[in-house]
Amino acid sequence: MNVLEAIAARQSVRAYQPKDIEPAKLEAVLQAANQAASAANLQAYRIYVVRGADAKAGLVAAAMGQKWLAQAPVVLVFCADPACSAQKFGPRGADVYCVQDACAAVGNAMLAAVGVGLASCWVDAVDAKLAAQAIQCPDSLRPVVILPLGYAAETPARTPRRSLSDLVVDLGS
Ligand SMILES: Cc1cc2nc3c(=O)[nH]c(=O)nc-3n(C[C@H](O)[C@H](O)[C@H](O)COP(=O)(O)O)c2cc1C
Repeated sequence: MNVLEAIAARQSVRAYQPKDIEPAKLEAVLQAANQAASAANLQAYRIYVVRGADAKAGLVAAAMGQKWLAQAPVVLVFCADPACSAQKFGPRGADVYCVQDACAAVGNAMLAAVGVGLASCWVDAVDAKLAAQAIQCPDSLRPVVILPLGYAAETPARTPRRSLSDLVVDLGS
C-alpha cells in the first residue's frame, strides 16, 4: 500500500476486536510517528503506550466518557513537551510548536496503522489533567491526543469532505 492508498483508506474506527497487536506492527506505528516533521527537529512530545484497564478507564474519563476507546488493545497518548520546545522557541514553542509536533506524529501514526492493517481514531484529550493522571506522566507534559489502536470491528460509512473549491484558495501566479 502506498501513502496515497493509506490516506484514502484511513477512517476513524470506534470499535475494535479483542485481539492483541503484534509487537512488530506497534513498532512500525511508533517508528512512523518518530519520523514525523517537528519544529527544529526537537520532537517536543512523548508517546505513552497504554495497555492496562485502569489507565484506559482514566483516559475514557479524560475524553468525556468515550467508553469505546477502552476496547482497543493499545491506546497511545501523545503528550506535548512545552519546556522542550520553549528552550529554543520561547512562548511560541510552548504554546504552539510542541502541539504541532505531537499532532504531526499522530498523523503519521494513523497512516502507518492503516499500512499494517490496524485502525485508529484521533480522540482529543479534553481533560488533560485527567489524562496525565491516567498515564502518570510528569507535570511537564501535556496530553493532547489519545489514539486507540487495534483491529477494526466495524466498517463505518465514509465521512463526506468539503470540495476543494470550498477549501482551497489558489492565489495563482
Ligand atoms: C482534533 C480532532 C479531535 C477529534 N476528537 C474526536 C473525539 O474526541 N472522538 C471521536 O470519536 N472522534 C474524534 N475525532 C475524529 C473525527 O471525528 C473524524 O476524524 C472526522 O469525523 C472525519 O472522519 P474520518 O476520520 O473517518 O475521516 C477527532 C479528530 C480530530 C482531528
